[in-house]
Amino acid sequence: MTQSAFSYVDDVLHAEGVSAASLAEQFGTPLYVYSRSALTEAYHAYADACDGRRAKIHVAVKANSNLAVLNVFARLGAGFDIVSAGELARVLAAGGKAENTVFSGVGKTAAEMREALDAGVKCFNVESIPELHALNEVAKAAGKKAPVSLRVNPDVDAKTHPYISTGLKSNKFGVAFADARATYAQAGAMSNLDVIGIDCHIGSQITEISPYLDAVDKLLDLVEQIEADGAQIRHVDVGGGLGITYDDETPPDIGDFVRTLLAHVEKRGHGQREVYFEPGRSLVGNAGVLLTRVEYLKPGEEKNFVIVDAAMNDLARPAMYEAFHRIVPVVKRAAQAHVYDVVGPVCESGDWLGRDRELAVEPGDLLAICSAGAYGFVMSSNYNTRPRAAEVMVDHERARLVREREEVKQLFAGESILPE
Ligand code: LLP
Repeated sequence: MTQSAFSYVDDVLHAEGVSAASLAEQFGTPLYVYSRSALTEAYHAYADACDGRRAKIHVAVKANSNLAVLNVFARLGAGFDIVSAGELARVLAAGGKAENTVFSGVGKTAAEMREALDAGVKCFNVESIPELHALNEVAKAAGKKAPVSLRVNPDVDAKTHPYISTGLKSNKFGVAFADARATYAQAGAMSNLDVIGIDCHIGSQITEISPYLDAVDKLLDLVEQIEADGAQIRHVDVGGGLGITYDDETPPDIGDFVRTLLAHVEKRGHGQREVYFEPGRSLVGNAGVLLTRVEYLKPGEEKNFVIVDAAMNDLARPAMYEAFHRIVPVVKRAAQAHVYDVVGPVCESGDWLGRDRELAVEPGDLLAICSAGAYGFVMSSNYNTRPRAAEVMVDHERARLVREREEVKQLFAGESILPE
């Protein structure tokens, strides 16, 4: 899916029915702008393909955890995938339900487990034997049984960036495939655990279906063995969703992806099991842009730079993964374009947002950094004591501030100096 909610009207970029230039005027820059209709459309692409099937969508909160974004999904009936007690608190504050929430992550603390257990989450996706023991103890102390799925590492190549590939033997995630059967037996013997599922997550920004089919095949082979050992697996969680178009990637249609996986599970004779999906990027990535203003043009001997008011602290993906985000003018100019690196004001050479981009720009112009709705604001920081950006949600002709811009004094409000 591309950024269909963001398009030009008379050479001015619009988010749904609102001009991006007016948003920048009203709310300042850098500014994250989300489209409610794009969020809704992406969710429906998954949910409609699950219609009438035993399948459920759990929005990966880590991709975008703004309360307004989570609330849009909660109203649509989504479940959630969380990785911390903080994300659980956000889901509940946004109107999501604990009983529709799965708790993933390799390092849950006992305190986080207790909070999630008390809230009544649907399942703990457990990643190791020590974590099974810890959860069993927490559940015992609470006088409860914790619902558990084991995250199995299927050792398939997701064909994505090494930093966001998670299903290989060399990754820190999940229980090794070869140990999974024995680990299920151990879990089954623990008095305060209720083993109900199996899960995996092979990576992110995956633009092919085949790695998912390989992973599902391995999971189902294992389910057959585990059930022969006496366990009962009610659901199979296939992890995150599809990759998106940042540049010229051509991911499959979301509906085709979901239907192909569900058909595959059925064909293997496992149609009675519920299938869980945990998409993040494909729900929010192309539903958001980051608006930034040009401060300076700086010609150089080897490179020309556009210095903008957004930086690596606002959008870390280029600096962290050399990720590509399209950068477009908010108001198109007829002038001659030049090739620039688009960079921020942070004191690091890694502080770039786009390299070798053809742009016709002047100081004061606005640019939109595209496909910034996923892993954008959530990964932002206060590096260089830069207040984090504001966030706005557009709904048809209306725009609402859904997160205030931080103020500098908030950034050190919890700090103190020594008395002498
Ligand atoms: N479930 C689990 C257990 C995950 O670890 C993730 C993402 C997801 C679901 C959602 O996957 P998605 O549908 O978004 O592919 N910061 C990186 C991406 C890290 C993804 C980590 N796990 C980036 O900016 O590309």
